[in-house]
Amino acid sequence: MTNADSHRAPGAREAALQVVVLAAGKGTRMRSRLPKVLQPLAGRPLLAHVLDTAHALHDARCVVVVGHGAQQVRAVFAANGQLAFREQEPQLGTGHAVLQACPALDDAGIVLVLYGDVPLVRAQTLQPLLDAARGGALAVLTVLLEQPDGYGRIVRDAQGRVTRIVEHKDATPAEHAIREVNSGILAAPAAALKRWVGALRNDNAQAEYYLTDVVQMAQAEGLPVQGVVAGDAEELMGVNDRLQLAQLERVVQRRHAERLMREGVTLLDPARIDLRGELVCGQDVRIDVGCVFEGRVELADGVHVGPHCVLRDCRIGAESRIEAFSHLDGASCGEGARIGPYARLRPGSELARDVHIGNFTEVKNSRIGDGSKANHLSYVGDTTVGERVNIGAGTITCNYDGAAKHRTVIEDDAFIGSDTQLVAPVRVGKGATLGAGTTLTRDAPAGQLTVSRARQVSIVNWARPQKKPSNES
Ligand code: UD1
Ligand code: CA
Repeated sequence: MTNADSHRAPGAREAALQVVVLAAGKGTRMRSRLPKVLQPLAGRPLLAHVLDTAHALHDARCVVVVGHGAQQVRAVFAANGQLAFREQEPQLGTGHAVLQACPALDDAGIVLVLYGDVPLVRAQTLQPLLDAARGGALAVLTVLLEQPDGYGRIVRDAQGRVTRIVEHKDATPAEHAIREVNSGILAAPAAALKRWVGALRNDNAQAEYYLTDVVQMAQAEGLPVQGVVAGDAEELMGVNDRLQLAQLERVVQRRHAERLMREGVTLLDPARIDLRGELVCGQDVRIDVGCVFEGRVELADGVHVGPHCVLRDCRIGAESRIEAFSHLDGASCGEGARIGPYARLRPGSELARDVHIGNFTEVKNSRIGDGSKANHLSYVGDTTVGERVNIGAGTITCNYDGAAKHRTVIEDDAFIGSDTQLVAPVRVGKGATLGAGTTLTRDAPAGQLTVSRARQVSIVNWARPQKKPSNES
């Protein structure tokens, strides 16, 4: 490991840190229309993870080198005013990419190079590299892998000093056996790095300007080269194809699951939860298998989520039960909700306390008051429902006339019979009852029974048509 602190004068101010993130590559091996650095990992672009790490390094200035799909990449990160972008066109290799960033880099201070496709590295892992670079060294982050295929190999001399990095495609069979590989991440004094990348050549198997060749240049100038071996190989896994992307996804999900369990959440199987955003849990939250959480989800104390639910941008009140196979998007539930199984809450669903939404019921842009229930097979859209309302099976709010949406209002203590259509705009008064099968086109007065179905008749002596006997069989 490094001992770079000894190079630094006592009390010296820390040299300014500039981070270059390489994100111009096409990612051919992904076989995708989406630029590689925009491929989602745990619901966010790969590059977003790398920028989080850069952000965690104090006071770092960040330059992102974009190229393939540059417009798309820039658009995704346009809101981040801190970033500077440099374009690399055409993309002639990692060294060529750093060269494009050079005009944006001050000679003073140090430069850290991160790869847009190495998303899991933690800021604390980078610290020894920064220390070494501040001490005047070129520092490369390496890792020991059981399966080093595809990675650049770290070649060390008899004294253990890093002498060069050889790409897999350029390596000899003996070099292929080396298990210490290049993570791609390196740090160096800015002026030196700028000088080196300006002098790179592309006489190699891929006819690319390899950033890794700066190792030999540092050597030639007599500058120390530090190979910092990272303890956690998982952190430095790169994404080149969809297999590796899937492997990293599992790593991230396991990290999330472990954190949740440490925070006191019960996961029935930590290997079967997918968190693609932020999940904030109270005490004694219990999550069954196969659930997906997206955006920001808050689960208050004692919430149980059944198997195979999807929750996106939701707030769920204490002691609520979300039963199996429910889909909640942009919804908020008060305490004691009973949702599902097989319920769907769409954006703008605001449920007060003790609300029950049962199987195959869809709610959208509606407020539902305390203790109200829609337990079976209903559509409640653009509706204001009061307290203690019972919505019978098969009730539909007809909120859309083909051009505009209209609201339905159902006041407190109303009882909506099964298979009722409420043709909005329409109001059901307090305590009103709608008979089963009603098609409500005008307001229903408070406290009365309103029913619109045809009267039942029975026809005596009616004969059911008979089939004629046939000769053909
Ligand atoms: C690179 C390293 C290899 C290391 C591996 C670790 C080089 C020459 N090789 O190989 O030693 O083991 O990463 O994951 O550096 N990029 C550009 N412009 C380009 C080419 C690439 O911005 O012209 C970016 C890519 O978007 C990507 C990163 O640089 O984020 C790495 O490029 P990639 O082609 O994946 O390099 P590897 O072959 O994986
Ligand atoms: Ca790579």
